[in-house]
Amino acid sequence: MKKTDVVLGLQWGDEGKGKVVDVLTPGYKVIARFQGGPNAGHSLHFNGESYVLHTIPSGIFRPGTVNIIGNGVVIDPVILAAEVEQLEAGGADLSGCLKVSKRAHLIMPTHRILDAASEAAKGKTKIGSTLKGIGPAYMDKTGRNGLRVGDIVSGKFMERYEALKAKHLGMLSQYDYSFDVAEYERQWFEGIEKLRRFEFIDSEYVVNKYIDGDVPVLAEGAQGALLDVDFGTYPYVTSSNTLCAGACTGLGVAPNRIGEVFGIFKAYCTRVGGGPFPTELEDATGERLREAGKEFGATTGRPRRCGWLDLVALKYTVMLNGVTALIMMKSDVLNGFDTVKVAVAYKTPDGETPTVPYELDGQLEPVYREFPGWSEDLSKIRRWEDLPRSFREYVEFIEAECGVPVKIISVGPDREETILR
Ligand code: GDP
Ligand code: IMO
Ligand code: MG
Repeated sequence: MKKTDVVLGLQWGDEGKGKVVDVLTPGYKVIARFQGGPNAGHSLHFNGESYVLHTIPSGIFRPGTVNIIGNGVVIDPVILAAEVEQLEAGGADLSGCLKVSKRAHLIMPTHRILDAASEAAKGKTKIGSTLKGIGPAYMDKTGRNGLRVGDIVSGKFMERYEALKAKHLGMLSQYDYSFDVAEYERQWFEGIEKLRRFEFIDSEYVVNKYIDGDVPVLAEGAQGALLDVDFGTYPYVTSSNTLCAGACTGLGVAPNRIGEVFGIFKAYCTRVGGGPFPTELEDATGERLREAGKEFGATTGRPRRCGWLDLVALKYTVMLNGVTALIMMKSDVLNGFDTVKVAVAYKTPDGETPTVPYELDGQLEPVYREFPGWSEDLSKIRRWEDLPRSFREYVEFIEAECGVPVKIISVGPDREETILR
C-alpha cells in the first residue's frame, strides 16, 4: 500500500466521520487524528451502545488497532482524561493502543476563557464557537507561544505554563469579562497527570514507519471542508486546515503518500454555529430534517441548522480535497419526502454562478434541481440493487456532477446500517 488513506468531512462538520472511521477500521491497523480538538464530536453506534469521541480517534473500539493523536490536534487534558475514563469504565485498557504526538499543542484553561471572552465581545457577529479554546490555542501555535505535549516531560513545563498564562491574563484584562480560572486549572493539572501514562511519541516517525512497512494507516479528520480556515466560510470557520492537506501537516505525511481520500457528506446539509448557509431551510421542511436526522450537536447539544444538499459547495470541496471516493450519509433521513432538492448553482446580483464566490452572504439564492422522493424505508436496505430507483438516480446525479463515485451509502447510525458498493 505504502500510502495513508484519509477520511474527512466535505460540508460543515458532523457528516458522520465517526461512524465511517469505525466502519472502515477493520481494513486498517492505525487510525490517526490529524487536526481539530474537542470541538469535534464523533458518534459511533454498535451493539446497541452509543459513544461520542472528541479527541480520541474513532478506531479505538476495534481491538488491535493503534490510535494516534497527531501533531495537528489541540488537546484539552481535562476532556481527554474524561474520554479515557469513560471508555475504560467499560473494562477496556487504552494504555497500549492510544499514543499522543509530542508536537500536539495543549489547550490551557485560559485558552477556553479567551475563547468565551472573545465570543462575548463579538455579540451578534459571534462565530458560534464550541467554546473549547480552539481558536486561542491555534493562535498561540502559529504565534509561536504554544505549550506542547512534549513540554510536559521537559522539566520546564511549569515555567512555560505560567509565562503563557500571564500573557493570557494580560489579554483578558482588555475584555469586560469576569472569570474564575482556579477550578478548571485544578482539573487541568489532574488531567495532565493522567495523560502521563500514555506514550508521547514522535508521531511523524511512527506514522511514516508504519507506511514504509505497508501497515495500513487511516487519517481521521475533524470538522469539515467548509469550516477550513483558508477555504471555509471565513471568518465563520474553525482555526485549522480541515482539508486533506491538513492530514499532511497534521501527521507529517508527505503529499505523495496520500492514497484514497474518502470524502463524507450528508444527503442534505447541516451547520451548527453562525455563518452563511445558502440552502438553509428556516421552515417546516428544515424542521423535518432536524427531527428526522436528530440534528442536535454531539459536543454542545445545540440544534443544527438544516437545508438541502448544496452541490456547488460539494463540488468545491471535492476539488480542494482530491476526493477519490464519496461516502453519502444519512440517506434515510430523506425517506418519505415527495421531492428532494439539490442546489446546482447560485443566483448572485451579477448573474448565475456554478462556483463558490468569495463571499457566501445572504445575497445568494440557490438554483435547485428537483428529484422525486421515495416512500421506502432505506434503513432496512443493505444492497445497492434493492434501493428505490428514484434514490439511485439522486446518487448517480451527485456522482456524475462531482466526477467521483459514491462508494458507501449510510442508511442509519449503526455500523450495520451501511451499503458498500
Ligand atoms: P461526525 O462529527 O462527522 O462524526 O458526525 P456526528 O457524530 O457529530 O453527527 C452525525 C450523527 O448522525 C450522529 O448522531 C450519528 O450517529 C448519526 N448518523 C451517522 N450516519 C447516519 C445515517 O446514515 N443515518 C442516520 N439517521 N444517522 C446517522
Ligand atoms: P466534527 O468533527 C460541526 C463549528 C462551530 C463553530 C465553528 C468554530 O464533530 O464534525 P470552534 O469551536 O472550532 O472555534 O468553532 O466551527 N464546529 C463544528 N461544527 N462539527 C464540528 O466538528 C465542529 N467543530 C467546530 O460550531 O461554528
Ligand atoms: Mg460531530
